[in-house]
Amino acid sequence: MSDLATQLTTLQQSAPQTIATVDSLEGLEQLRVKFLGKKGELSQILKGMGKLDASERPRLGALANEVKDAVQLAIEETRSRLLAAEIAAQLTAETLDVTMPGVYTPQGGIHPLNSTLDQVLDIFVGLGYTVARGPEMETDYYNFEALNTPADHPARDMQDTFYLSDGNLLRTHTSSVQIRYLENHQPPVRIIAPGRCYRRDTEDATHGAVFHQIEILAVDQGLTFTDLKGTIQAFLAQIFGDVPIRFRASYFPFTEPSAEVDVQWRGRWLEVLGCGMVDPNVLKGVGYDPEVYTGFAAGFGLERFAMVLHQIDDIRRLFTSDLRFLRQF
Ligand code: DAH
Repeated sequence: MSDLATQLTTLQQSAPQTIATVDSLEGLEQLRVKFLGKKGELSQILKGMGKLDASERPRLGALANEVKDAVQLAIEETRSRLLAAEIAAQLTAETLDVTMPGVYTPQGGIHPLNSTLDQVLDIFVGLGYTVARGPEMETDYYNFEALNTPADHPARDMQDTFYLSDGNLLRTHTSSVQIRYLENHQPPVRIIAPGRCYRRDTEDATHGAVFHQIEILAVDQGLTFTDLKGTIQAFLAQIFGDVPIRFRASYFPFTEPSAEVDVQWRGRWLEVLGCGMVDPNVLKGVGYDPEVYTGFAAGFGLERFAMVLHQIDDIRRLFTSDLRFLRQF
C-alpha cells in the first residue's frame, strides 16, 4: 500500500475516534477545521496526489472521498449528540415549578374623578355634545368681562380669584370656555367643557384651591328653559338614578333666568349644579343676535359628583394619592 493510502486509512480510523470524545460544539468545530479544513489533515495528504502515478490516482481519489465521508459522518453524529445534550440541559435548568407562589403584579385602577368624568362625558356625547377645552390661565375678559361680569360687578366676590403678576388670572370656572368656543363657531352649538379651575378658598373637607368643573353650553334658534330642564333631568337621572330633583331660582351674571339644582340623595337635598338661560348680553358680546339665538348653560363641580356617587367624605382624599383609599375603586 502506498504511503498516501496508509495515511488516509489512519486518518479514517483515528479522526472519528477523536471526534467522538469532544464535549462541546466549539471543540467540534475546531476538529472539523483540523481534519477537513482547507489546510486540514485531509488536504495535506491530498497534496501528495500530484506526485502519484496516473494509474494510482483514481483509487486514491476514491479512498480520499471515503475518508472524507467517514469524518463528516462522525462530525454530524457528534453534532446531533451535543445539540440534544444542550437542549436537555436547558430543559432541566428552565423547569417551571407551577406549584410555586406567583409574583404579585399590582394593577392600576381608574381614579374616581376620572371614572366620574368619563361617565358624564359619555352621557353628553350621547346627546350630541362635542368636548371643548380652554386654557387654565385666562384673561380677565374671558373669565369675567365677556361673561357679563364687569370689574365693579359684585358677583366677582363670589369667586376668590388667583391673579397673576402679569394681569392674567387662573380661571375660576370653565364658563370661560363658553366665550372662547362661541367666538369661533356658528350655531347650533352643543359643547361639554371639562377642566381644572382655581380659587383661593381655604381648603376644607369640601373645598380645594384646585378643583374640576364641567361646563355645558347649547346655543341655537328657539332653545327654551324647557330644553334646559329636560337636558338636566335626563343627565341627572343617568347619574343618580330615579331620584327627586328640584330647580331653585338663583343668580349668575351670565345666565338669566338662573337656577340651582338639587337632588335628593340618601334623604338629604344636595345642591349639584348651577344653570340658566344664556344672558342676552353674553350672546351680544360674541356677535350673536339674541333676538335670533337663545341658549342654555350649566356648570358643576366634578369632585362634588364623585363624592356623592362614591360616598367620599373629604375632598382631600381625591388628591392625596393615598393607595389605601384609591385601591377601593
Ligand atoms: N360658573 C359657575 C360657578 O363656577 C357655575 C355655573 C352656573 C355655570 C350657571 C354655568 C351656569 O354655565 O349656567 O359657580
